Amino acid sequence: MFVCMCYGVTDKSIRAAVEENGVGNMRELRQHLELGSQCGKCITMAQQIIDQTIIDESLFKDVG
Ligand code: FES
Repeated sequence: MFVCMCYGVTDKSIRAAVEENGVGNMRELRQHLELGSQCGKCITMAQQIIDQTIIDESLFKDVG
């Protein structure tokens, strides 16, 4: 699924940035991926994906 249409960034690449690079917010995400600086429509969705990925990760760690 494309989160950022302007730059063609998918939810998968955002999740990978969180998991592999420890990205925790939009500012950090934009150091790894180009998104959000054209129309800005994707910013809310991208932030939600970051948050959700962090929650998923911490659940996984509790189980592991
Ligand atoms: S959809 Fe991301 S900047 Fe436009």
